[in-house]
Amino acid sequence: MADDVAYIPVEVIENFMMDVFQALGVPPDEARICTNVLIASDLRGIESHGVGRLKYYYDRIKAGVQHTQTQFEIVKETETTALVDGHHGMGQVIAYRAMRLAMDKARRYGLGAVAVRNSTHFGIAGYYPLMAAAEGMMGFTVTNARPAIAPTFGTEPMLGTNPIAFAAPSDMPFPFCFDGATPITQRGKIEVLARAEKPVPEGWLIDAEGKPATDPHKILKDLDKGLAAFLPLGGQGEMYGGHKGYGLATMVEILCASLSEGAFLRDLMGYAPDGTRRPYMVGHFFLAIDIEHFIPLEVSRRITGQIMRDLQNSRKEPGHDRIYVAGEKEWEMEKVVRERGIPVNPNLRRELEIMRDELQIAGYEQYF
Ligand SMILES: NC(=O)c1ccc[n+]([C@@H]2O[C@H](COP(=O)([O-])OP(=O)(O)OC[C@H]3O[C@@H](n4cnc5c(N)ncnc54)[C@H](O)[C@@H]3O)[C@@H](O)[C@H]2O)c1
Repeated sequence: MADDVAYIPVEVIENFMMDVFQALGVPPDEARICTNVLIASDLRGIESHGVGRLKYYYDRIKAGVQHTQTQFEIVKETETTALVDGHHGMGQVIAYRAMRLAMDKARRYGLGAVAVRNSTHFGIAGYYPLMAAAEGMMGFTVTNARPAIAPTFGTEPMLGTNPIAFAAPSDMPFPFCFDGATPITQRGKIEVLARAEKPVPEGWLIDAEGKPATDPHKILKDLDKGLAAFLPLGGQGEMYGGHKGYGLATMVEILCASLSEGAFLRDLMGYAPDGTRRPYMVGHFFLAIDIEHFIPLEVSRRITGQIMRDLQNSRKEPGHDRIYVAGEKEWEMEKVVRERGIPVNPNLRRELEIMRDELQIAGYEQYF
């Protein structure tokens, strides 16, 4: 309930993330990268992937399926490409370094593409293309994830929520940044409805018979057993283009596995065939495009900005006085979050307290 939500200053949460990662054994400079990615999510108003995910990494590290010492191995490299093995280290560190590598190649040769295997959950996909946009490049990032989406005409969760993120510099106060998953919705939103005891809207998920799944508690249990599945963007069947969302999620899966000889589909469950836990083995793909190799950066910024402005200024639907472009709401959110603090609900507070106590971290008694 809204009344139970406490707003904690950004710096407090940021310091706590640093403390947790370091207490778990992540080296300080790499804890800084992990913290930067998580806090960027909270600042962008994406509550599902910021401090709300800290315990998820904590649990995986404690379960031994993710390592705090990241071994970033470049397996193969050319002027414009690289293949990286992340050896189940910290996904944010692997992704940051892979994007950095792609950008360095793009700066010299125009394009840089890096495929990664054996990585772990890297947080918000949008963080990495935004690194490119901040340096005058376009960036593109995708990742696969454990099975969640059923293919069109199927009911078994096969594809991950497989987000696609693309950013481009503009002459607006913020870059264009599309960063979205390929199902209609995702697990975090089901968890919110379960806590609020509200039904899941029909059309978001299906059960094993292909019927609408609407009980959030049952869905959360069934998802783990493969008995419920998210529908791809466009929904069930072909009527509203569900096959296109299915195709996009599959494109992500291919970019994340077929360039890196990485794991895919059911092998990303995080469990071995004998039922024991094992690393998730996710793959990523990063592309950086240095605009100056095509046209002057300022011209490109102006054109991208004009595309954004033309869209914003086009005719509005009745009842709406504003059209957004991707990345705009998140950019506006940062100011709000910095002033108001990061929302922490009772469940999240309990998670923070568990980590604080188990890791014996002092100094946060005033907040949680
Ligand atoms: N690492 C992983 O395995 C993983 C998996 C899934 C999702 N994610 C992350 O979860 C986050 C949330 O994903 P999501 O699919 O819920 O995002 P979302 O649906 O909230 O937003 C998707 C995109 O739509 C844009 N947008 C929102 N409203 C708009 C409007 N009215 N007009 C124009 N554009 C608009 C946003 O700026 C954003 O770029 C993302 O950061 C994603 O990378 C990560």
